[in-house]
Order: sequence, then structure tokens, then C-alpha cells
Amino acid sequence: MEFKLGLIGYPIKHSLSPWIHNQFLESAKIKGEYSIYEVREDSLFNQIEMMKEKEYRGFNVTIPYKQKVIPFLDEIDDTAKVIGAVNTVLNDNGRLIGFNTDGTGYFRALQQYYPELVEDKDNSILIIGAGGAARGIYYVLSQAGFKTIDIANRTSGKAESIQELASRNTNTNVLSLNQGEKNIHQYDVIIQTTNIGMKPDVLHSPLKLNNIRDSAIVSDIIYQPIWTSFLREAHINGASIHHGHTMLLYQAQYAFEIWFGFKPELRDMEQQLKQLLEG
Ligand code: ATR
Repeated sequence: MEFKLGLIGYPIKHSLSPWIHNQFLESAKIKGEYSIYEVREDSLFNQIEMMKEKEYRGFNVTIPYKQKVIPFLDEIDDTAKVIGAVNTVLNDNGRLIGFNTDGTGYFRALQQYYPELVEDKDNSILIIGAGGAARGIYYVLSQAGFKTIDIANRTSGKAESIQELASRNTNTNVLSLNQGEKNIHQYDVIIQTTNIGMKPDVLHSPLKLNNIRDSAIVSDIIYQPIWTSFLREAHINGASIHHGHTMLLYQAQYAFEIWFGFKPELRDMEQQLKQLLEG
């Protein structure tokens, strides 16, 4: 049997998911194809019903359906429930199970490049932004046991709703972007999750990094461009960098693992993806 996988969303412009998953299928020697399903909302139900057919092993979900897909599913895993959004669905013999791979994908990418950082739960973390991605990342980092995870966001209410997800070990302060900038020297890890600095507004940055520790690790989940203004400034100030495209890869790897039960090899895909994005 040839497996079918795919991405549901609207509109879907230049998704990298087919590029990634078709390589995973090939390296795992699994016959199948990952396709794009650009569907309007009035066809969402029918599309999802079709995905219950047995050749579909699962699918990804993107904007604007990460929440809208939930009522059509049979089960939701705990992380997706807490985050309130699904981006990966497993078709388990006609039962659809929803997952959210954002937080785990981010965490695995960080672990890959900075394993010693992830070991030491005393490392203090600042998350900038309080959208869907921030929520997933915060939840996974808090579950992993990090003691200090502060959130700086334009709208404090959104950060406060993330703060409620704290596990017993985690202490969280909600800050304005200005406060985050002023206190930036306090953090070992700084994670940028807003869309500020994304193409085409590449000159923008959510806050200044003049006062960061030179031992800090600065992460941006934006991957277009690979070198955001935020990461450039971090680099100039002596910090170590963690690029956004790695989250994309590890999140896809985790989705594939949900579908097939093993981690596909990444081989040199990180380098290839970087080159692709750098044009
Ligand atoms: P995602 O799902 O990718 O995380 P999102 O849920 O739309 O995207 O969240 C975007 C985040 O970027 C939010 O934290 C948003 O701030 P608010 O919570 O105040 O809306 C932040 N953001 C986007 N544009 C911004 C801007 N111009 N200035 C400050 N924050 C911005």
C-alpha cells in the first residue's frame, strides 16, 4: 500500500512540509506521498472524513484550522489539549487523534544543539511573545522542569494565560517588552516567538539585546529569514545562536514518529534546508 500524508490549511503558500516529509519517506523506504490540501472551511469536514481512509496515515494542520479541526477528532493528546490547538493528526484505523508538536519539536531542536543547557534546569529562560507557539514551548519547558521561565509580551493577558500552565517547579513573571529588554541580562536562554522580524519586515525586532550575557543562548523560531535582525544583534553581542529552521525539522520529525512509530533520519537535511531558505 502507498501511504498518503498531507497538510490541510488555507491558504497554503510555500510550505516546506512536503519537502521534509517526502525525504523522510524516502530515507525510511516507505512508499507514499505527502501532499498539500488547500481547503476552504466549508469543505473541511469532508476533507477530514476522507483522511479516515486507511491509506492515510495522518496529516498536519495549519492556519486557520489548528483549533477548528478539534471538534472533528475522536481524541486529543494532553499537550494539544493544554495548548488548545492541533497541528498533527494520526489516523488510527479510522479514529483520528490530535497532537501538537510545536513545543516538543522546539525542545528536541534545542536539546540537539545545546544538550548541556537542557540538562541544567537552573538556566533561566525568557520567552518573548505569547501566541500559540509560545504556549507550546512554555508548556514543554515547564514540564521539563525549568525553574524560571518568564514571558515578555505586548499584551499581558495572553502571557498570564500561559503562566497558568506552569508546573510545580516553574516560577514565571509576566513582563512588558520594555521590562524584558531592561532585564535581559538576567537570562541564560532567550526565545523569540513573535512574528516580528519575519519576511518582509526583516529589519524589525521585538526588543534590543545590548545588555545580554555573552554566555546567553538566543533562539528565534522565525526561519524566514534564517538570520533575523534579532539573531544578528544577539550574535554581535557575543551570544550563541539557535536558528528557527531546526524547530521546523524536529517538529516534522516528531510528527513522522507519531505516524510511523520511529524517528526518521535527518541526515544532512538541516544544512540543505538552511541553504534552501538562504536562497
Ligand atoms: P503563533 O501561533 O505563530 O505564535 P500568534 O498566536 O499570532 O502566532 O502570536 C503572535 C505573537 O506575536 C503574539 O504574542 C503577539 O503579541 P500580542 O499577544 O500582544 O498580540 C506578538 N506580536 C505580533 N506582532 C507584534 C507587534 N507588532 N508588536 C508586539 N508583539 C507582536
